[in-house]
Amino acid sequence: MGNTQDDECETKPATNVRDAAEEDTSTMAAFQLLFPLLVSCVAASAHPPRHLPACQVVQMDVFCSDLSLRSAPVDLPRGVQTLDLSRNQVQNLTRETLAYHTGFRHLNLHSNNIHFIQPGLFKDMTDLKVLDLSRNHLNVFALSKINIGPLTAVESLDLSSNGLYTGMSDYFLADSPSLENLSLNGNSITKIAQNTFSGSSSLRKIGLHNNVILEIEDGAFDSLNRLTELDLSKNSITCITDFNLCNLKVLNLSKNSMELFQSATSADYYNLLSLDLSENKMLYFPRLPRNNRLEHLDVSRNQLQSVNVTGTPEKKAFFSHLRYLDMSYNQLKSIPECFFYCMASLEVLNVSNNCISSFSVTNEGLLRTVKIINLSHNSLQSLTFGENTLQSLEELVLHGNDLATLDHGIFQRLPSIKHLQLQQNNLQICSSDQNHQDPPGCVSFASIPNLQYLDLSENNVRTLPANVFSNTPLTLLDLSLNPGLDMDKDSLSGLEHSLVHLLLRENNISSLNTDLSSLRSLKHIDLSTNQLTALPMWNKDSSIESLNLQNNHLVTLEYSTMLALEHSLKTLYMGSNPLSCCSNLDFLHMVQNSAVVVPDIETVTCVHEEYSEPVNIEKVTQEMCHTSGVQNYVIAVLVIGLVAVIVSVLLVKCCRSRKPKHNRSFNA
Ligand SMILES: *[C@@H]1O[C@H](CO)[C@@H](O)[C@H](O)[C@H]1NC(C)=O
Ligand SMILES: *[C@@H]1O[C@H](CO)[C@@H](O)[C@H](O)[C@H]1NC(C)=O
Ligand SMILES: *[C@@H]1O[C@H](CO)[C@@H](O)[C@H](O)[C@H]1NC(C)=O
Ligand SMILES: *[C@@H]1O[C@H](CO)[C@@H](O)[C@H](O)[C@H]1NC(C)=O
Ligand SMILES: *[C@@H]1O[C@H](CO)[C@@H](O)[C@H](O)[C@H]1NC(C)=O
Ligand SMILES: *[C@@H]1O[C@H](CO)[C@@H](O)[C@H](O)[C@H]1NC(C)=O
Repeated sequence: MGNTQDDECETKPATNVRDAAEEDTSTMAAFQLLFPLLVSCVAASAHPPRHLPACQVVQMDVFCSDLSLRSAPVDLPRGVQTLDLSRNQVQNLTRETLAYHTGFRHLNLHSNNIHFIQPGLFKDMTDLKVLDLSRNHLNVFALSKINIGPLTAVESLDLSSNGLYTGMSDYFLADSPSLENLSLNGNSITKIAQNTFSGSSSLRKIGLHNNVILEIEDGAFDSLNRLTELDLSKNSITCITDFNLCNLKVLNLSKNSMELFQSATSADYYNLLSLDLSENKMLYFPRLPRNNRLEHLDVSRNQLQSVNVTGTPEKKAFFSHLRYLDMSYNQLKSIPECFFYCMASLEVLNVSNNCISSFSVTNEGLLRTVKIINLSHNSLQSLTFGENTLQSLEELVLHGNDLATLDHGIFQRLPSIKHLQLQQNNLQICSSDQNHQDPPGCVSFASIPNLQYLDLSENNVRTLPANVFSNTPLTLLDLSLNPGLDMDKDSLSGLEHSLVHLLLRENNISSLNTDLSSLRSLKHIDLSTNQLTALPMWNKDSSIESLNLQNNHLVTLEYSTMLALEHSLKTLYMGSNPLSCCSNLDFLHMVQNSAVVVPDIETVTCVHEEYSEPVNIEKVTQEMCHTSGVQNYVIAVLVIGLVAVIVSVLLVKCCRSRKPKHNRSFNA
């Protein structure tokens, strides 16, 4: 039914009908013949006014997104190349909907209500390369089992989020010889049949993310010689036993229920570069083709208990191109050194969040190119690096382990190390000259020539001897959460010209005897949650930009120090200190008037004897502290009294001296 109506419109396009009606009114017969057609077409699509102005026209591209349109404006410019009708109310996609233009290169119809496409609509669109039909109701159309006809020139087709289930894509793909990029993401497809892509043999990239694929028939992708990218993530695939797509470069199987991945045993050369198997249920390391050029392998969030490869022992695969290997969030208990034998290009190794208790690299030839090793959140008790191993290692992440003792020179052996994350362990720090007072198993941080970032927070570090970081150019040092930390007054010497960030949070420090003013590069310092009663000394040479003093025992702030900081200070945290209002007036005035930002100003209060509650420092005024009215009154009374006494004394004297005069004169 719908078809025939549309076909009529096709033979006599509506615009022509209108023109004809205007010009040929004299020809009654023609008019009578055409009038019902006109009405039927108008009624068929019940279109609201179709004016271009609301759309944006940029040269040959017309953008009409989000305008509640049911079809394209009638007066589209001749030769329009791009038409964006996304987020409108198109229901029937017909020639009329597109105002009878066929010269499009790019049609964007996503987020409409399309549930009907006129068959053959795209046949004559020989320039149409990109067609976006995502977020419509094409499942309704597919139910009618009609084919949309040839997609003559379309190279990129987006059919995502259309409620399509198994077999439905056939009605769109049957004749799409030029198709390269196809998205079927977010549909309800459960099976990829052998012939699913037989009408689209030019495909290079297929997206099937977020479907419910349980089954892929043998050979479903075999005819696609150019296929290089396949996204099967977020489906329900449980195993792949004969992976044989030699030309594929990118395969994403993340978020399935994969228990097994095995490639066909052959000597064929595979082009696979990236394989994502994260978030599956793999018990064994995947069996990869022997001849591969894999660079990126992600097996994180699986159930690997060992790095043994599944199945019968056979010739091992070589991973000579592998650069990134992520095995984090598994249940690995150990990784034998020999596992790395064939990984001569590895740069990133992530084995964090496993159960590894011991990790060692002793063979010089191993992991020569590795830059990052992430071993965080394991149960490491032992860590060994041999001489001349890991010469490229820049970042070593060891936080959240049980490390209590290490070879004291372990980090000096890593010539490229820049970044050491050791927080949440139980390490102690050796003095730089290795004396007998050092705790056994302590580790040295002196003379590590490239180390910039060192996090030693939460280690129960008890003492920080003098010169521990000499010849180590740290820019960041975190010693937070080591309560009771006893810092030698020269513990930070050597860091004068490098250290920028210093964190000493939650260390129960009551007075800081380390001189921070000599750290000329220091910009950010966190001293929050300690028991400081006085500010560290700083002079005008300091370059502190942010200072955190929250939650200490500060009553009076040395104004000269604050004044010295003022020229560089940008951010100051001060909350939760028992400040005195009237002995810090200059400081309060500074905060109120300078450009220093106090982000926690709501919680910065001070104590004033006349107020029962602490006063927010923004409310403190000079007047509140003017040695109060009562005192002034007392002084005034005293002064007046004194004056009165003096005056009366003088008066008495005067009278006395006059009397004798008077007497004298009287006498005289
Ligand atoms: C869309 O087309 C169908 C079938 O041709 C027809 O029944 C329906 O009324 C049309 N809807 C609109 C809004 O034009
Ligand atoms: C296909 O997808 C790739 C990668 O997203 C893109 O670079 C390419 O331009 C797309 N090709 C077409 C014809 O849209
Ligand atoms: C694989 O797909 C998941 C889910 O869509 C995505 O988060 C991940 O980035 C993809 N992996 C790669 C290597 O692109
Ligand atoms: C594993 O560690 C690497 C480098 O440290 C990081 O880039 C990656 O995101 C981590 N993987 C996960 C799953 O967090
Ligand atoms: C280490 O890997 C974990 C995931 O296992 C990740 O969350 C973390 O960001 C990584 N650390 C670094 C410094 O890359
Ligand atoms: C913090 O220091 C005080 C004395 O200044 C001491 O009594 C207390 O035990 C210390 N707390 C910790 C956790 O070291």
